[in-house]
Amino acid sequence: MARILVTGGTGHLGRLVVPRLVRTGQEVTVLSRSPHAAGDGVRYLVGDWDTGEGLTAAVRDADVVVHLAGDQLHNETVAHALVRAVREAGTDPHLVNISVVGAEKVPLRSGFDRRVLGYMASKAAAERVLEGSGLRWTNLRATQFHELVLIAARALAKLPVVPVPSGWRSQPVAGDEVAARLVELAVGDPQGRVPDLAGPEVHSFRSMIRDYLDAVGSRRPTMPVRIPGGASRAYAAGANLAPDRAVGKQTWAEFLAAREPSRS
Ligand SMILES: NC(=O)c1ccc[n+]([C@@H]2O[C@H](COP(=O)([O-])OP(=O)(O)OC[C@H]3O[C@@H](n4cnc5c(N)ncnc54)[C@H](OP(=O)(O)O)[C@@H]3O)[C@@H](O)[C@H]2O)c1
Repeated sequence: MARILVTGGTGHLGRLVVPRLVRTGQEVTVLSRSPHAAGDGVRYLVGDWDTGEGLTAAVRDADVVVHLAGDQLHNETVAHALVRAVREAGTDPHLVNISVVGAEKVPLRSGFDRRVLGYMASKAAAERVLEGSGLRWTNLRATQFHELVLIAARALAKLPVVPVPSGWRSQPVAGDEVAARLVELAVGDPQGRVPDLAGPEVHSFRSMIRDYLDAVGSRRPTMPVRIPGGASRAYAAGANLAPDRAVGKQTWAEFLAAREPSRS
């Protein structure tokens, strides 16, 4: 039995990973900024990547750190904090990191590009921190999760005319399939960068939003919006896609049918 620390274990992906890890019989600890009562085979520790609180103590007792914690723009800083904590702890856990397909392919300038689309560059920078750390690591890149597309669709669909970035495409994958792969990697040996995990189909953002609107019986019109900048052009060119790694099983339509049974 390995002692596995999951950062971001309370997030969308973490909530899919943690019960799977418990079912494999591992000793699972979740790091969160807020206190949680232990339960369902999981104990919780308080820690914060921004302040450094609790990190060294948390990683000291881990054989494996499944690193899912992240936000839009600070993934590099968090990766530095993780490496620093491991060095301070004086241990050598296997670090399993989740990243995103095309992380290094989205160029960023300043202003709008960086504020709105800085996520990919931030994930690429975090990967470089782990790669250069001298520690034992495995890095999985995945495409956008169906769950994330659904959150975006729900938010956009509140508007009377639904804006859709023109030319952008996505190859969404089931978060649960990403979770299953991460668990497989966490109980195995460090492998460096492993093959990407991408969803089974490529869609335009417009068609995915349209599918969502149809599923919830909304007749709201969509409106293509041109997003300026190099990062947006990279999305339009398919930087976030991996058609040669379309190994995910659940389609967007299947996910939507399960989450938003048709009301039309
Ligand atoms: N969503 C996608 O489509 C997608 C695709 C590819 C890769 N990914 C990657 O998958 C990972 C998880 O994504 P998600 O959508 O599940 O994220 P999420 O739901 O936003 O969850 C973020 C998690 O990070 C933790 N966290 C944030 N700031 C923290 C801090 N300062 N200190 C400690 N913990 C902190 C939060 O824990 P507490 O709130 O409990 O503190 C939470 O559990 C991210 O690394 C993301 O880049 C996502």
